[in-house]
Amino acid sequence: MKTKCTMKKIAIFASGAGSNAENIIRYMRENQCGGEVALVVCNRPDAGVVERARRLDVPVHVMTRAEINDACTMLGLLDEYSIDVVVLAGFLLMVPTFILDRYKDKVVNIHPSLLPKYGGKGMYGRHVHEAVVAAGETVSGITIHLVSEVCDEGRIVFQASVPVSSADTAADVERKIHALEREHFARVISEEFL
Ligand code: GRF
Repeated sequence: MKTKCTMKKIAIFASGAGSNAENIIRYMRENQCGGEVALVVCNRPDAGVVERARRLDVPVHVMTRAEINDACTMLGLLDEYSIDVVVLAGFLLMVPTFILDRYKDKVVNIHPSLLPKYGGKGMYGRHVHEAVVAAGETVSGITIHLVSEVCDEGRIVFQASVPVSSADTAADVERKIHALEREHFARVISEEFL
């Protein structure tokens, strides 16, 4: 177990239900791996992640796109919480360049497909799984990667795959992908970024 003074602070940026955010918060608490989620940033007041973070007693800041894109506001917030690592977990906005510059190789995203397949603009959430099913893929998976200025193109850190059968619907694939995310995302963060 790492001591308190080496504890790395994680900020999670999310826009949706927040199942990944909750898994990461719990994993860091339960595994004493040297990290804790100190802050959740969300751009949608009605997103499930807001309620989840509150329930888990993690500070959550709901911010507009303009606030997120304002360097003074955003870097000030990340400094206030002494953030070391930024994790995107279903965050639907582009991360401003000033965050990528400040947190070089410390901004990580999870994408619900085997990149480079089914990545890029418009490829998020259920859209990805619908495209996978429509193309008759026999395998899909997750990609954990560094965030760069180009959507879904940063260096790949980890991938895991799962079979897709011809009977699977997009909802079935989504369930399988969420199971993979639960199995790997927090662990990879702790092993590669803390
Ligand atoms: C996940 O499938 C993640 O891979 C993708 O968006 C989804 C977010 O789900 N980037 P949740 O909000 O964490 O439940």
